[in-house]
Amino acid sequence: LFTTDQHADPPPDLETLRAQAAGCTACELHHDTTGTVFGTGAPQARLVMVGEQPGDQEDRQQAPFVGPAGRLLDEALDEAGVARDDAYVTNAVKHFNFRYQGKRRIHETPKAGHIRACRPWLDAELALVKPQVLLTLGATAGKALLGSSFRITAERGEPRPWNDLTLVPTIHPSAILRADPARGQDRDEMFAGFVADLRTAGELLA
Ligand code: URA
Repeated sequence: LFTTDQHADPPPDLETLRAQAAGCTACELHHDTTGTVFGTGAPQARLVMVGEQPGDQEDRQQAPFVGPAGRLLDEALDEAGVARDDAYVTNAVKHFNFRYQGKRRIHETPKAGHIRACRPWLDAELALVKPQVLLTLGATAGKALLGSSFRITAERGEPRPWNDLTLVPTIHPSAILRADPARGQDRDEMFAGFVADLRTAGELLA
């Protein structure tokens, strides 16, 4: 079984780490998924973006942020003038957590135990990529790195020192896709706020 000791000596590169993560059985999520969705992007990126977990499309295609949330992220990055190709994109949890509704797989928020089990992979990715700026997308990624007291509404968009880099928390693109006018959520406003946070992260790289 996987233990954190596996990372006592960090692997020499991301490809080795990816190969190790492919066989991860540290939590039960590997049972019913296509596989570990490891990070992708520039190996020496100055910007790392951390999402929650792969969705249905990401699990099928085995790459992060390639489904609807990924398309919205791409749109926002474009508008903020941040190149996704220069960044490294990964998730706090690397297997898809879902329940079945008929044949459909419906996203379930990962549990603290899933985040904990997966943390060594994220830490090792960060140790190898060594970014200047870390952007957390959504409450799960924010809490995974900043602790359970993290409050997305109050803290999003505010850069803060974190270990030896700058962390910028922002909302998750899926929250924009789910924007509910009945709850006072305006999609365009949320998108503009998301772009502003991405721009903040981009400007820290200058
Ligand atoms: N949502 C995430 O948090 N990550 C993905 O990779 C896709 C959707």
